[in-house]
Amino acid sequence: MQTLHVELGERSYPIYIGAGLLTDPELLARHIGGRQVAVVTNETVAPLYLETLMRSLEGFKVASIVLPDGEVFKSWETLQLIFDGLLTARHDRRTTIIALGGGVIGDMAGFAAACYQRGVDFIQVPTTLLSQVDSSVGGKTGINHPLGKNMIGAFYQPKAVLIDTASLRTLPERELSAGLAEVIKYGLICDEPFLAWLEENMPALRALDGAALTYAIERSCAAKARVVGADERESGVRATLNLGHTFGHAIETEQGYGVWLHGEAVAAGTVMALEMSHRLGWLSAPERDRGVRLLQAAGLPVVPPRDMTPERFLEHMAVDKKVLDGQMRLVLLKHLGEAVVTADYPREILDATLRSDYVALTQSSNS
Ligand code: NAD
Ligand code: GLY
Repeated sequence: MQTLHVELGERSYPIYIGAGLLTDPELLARHIGGRQVAVVTNETVAPLYLETLMRSLEGFKVASIVLPDGEVFKSWETLQLIFDGLLTARHDRRTTIIALGGGVIGDMAGFAAACYQRGVDFIQVPTTLLSQVDSSVGGKTGINHPLGKNMIGAFYQPKAVLIDTASLRTLPERELSAGLAEVIKYGLICDEPFLAWLEENMPALRALDGAALTYAIERSCAAKARVVGADERESGVRATLNLGHTFGHAIETEQGYGVWLHGEAVAAGTVMALEMSHRLGWLSAPERDRGVRLLQAAGLPVVPPRDMTPERFLEHMAVDKKVLDGQMRLVLLKHLGEAVVTADYPREILDATLRSDYVALTQSSNS
């Protein structure tokens, strides 16, 4: 087992990474303050891992709250089901909520923990690659609004993150690729040498090679922990973790939550950010194409949906959380491995990026 740390003073916490951690009762017990535990999971993950987790929680008074599965359920209505479960089982302020599932469960259970009786402890047990490398670390919790992705929420840190890499064996291939979008993101924004490693090891990652996955998860979590430790509340560098997300969130919201997976939308959005960085003269064409090829090698879409007009993009992008005083800040790349957050770009470059022919770009990047 590897242990990393998110350093946030008295709110610091460990990230445990290893195969089979779900079956380690001591690891969980270390981070549970009272006797009551509520496991929040969903209908897909419960049959796979709930019983194993329950066995590791013997001795605690455990309630399970099983939610419907899907991004479309990351909503007020589903959040209310968590509170219903907590109150029905009379959970008190010393209860610990455990989020068992992907990013949707982690974000919602974390937000419920932030709100329930004004804040109770929670532990992240992420079971998708995306949640293991990104959403379980850093304390961003929340739900979607029909008008904007992740628009309602709170910064609320978990007490621990327990990553059982063995849980990835049951993950559908499409979900694995979605997680790889966020892994590639770390290389693009702050770790250029990691890009070369990913290029070499992409087949192993997609074949679920344990050593390759563990390495990629560790390196991603280390990057995320560093960024969050430096800027917990996103007043600066943390915004770079949103590479591709402003374009991507527009795709997710326009298409309807869950139609494009979050990681897929981020991948297509990242290609748009690469293209815009190229149009600004910051990335050369070969650098841009290198990023595009890596996303393709991960099995990800690199062309935004055909029906997304520039106008639809702009409408959704205007409600992005990086918009400040009406200025649309974007995460762009100065170089591969160096991201900036900026509103200082010519408007016509953004317009040209939104009008670009991504099918042609993809073909040229492969030739
Ligand atoms: P998800 O939670 O919807 O999980 C994807 C699918 O995999 C679901 O059907 C789920 O039930 C299933 N699943 C989960 N674990 C499984 C397993 N081990 N085996 C088989 N199936 C499994 O999606 P996700 O990609 O994990 O997370 C996406 C969400 O995370 C989005 O809502 C996004 O906004 C959010 N997110 C949050 C942050 C953050 O910092 N809080 C960062 C990135 C993404
Ligand atoms: N996924 C973006 C962040 O945690 O800030």
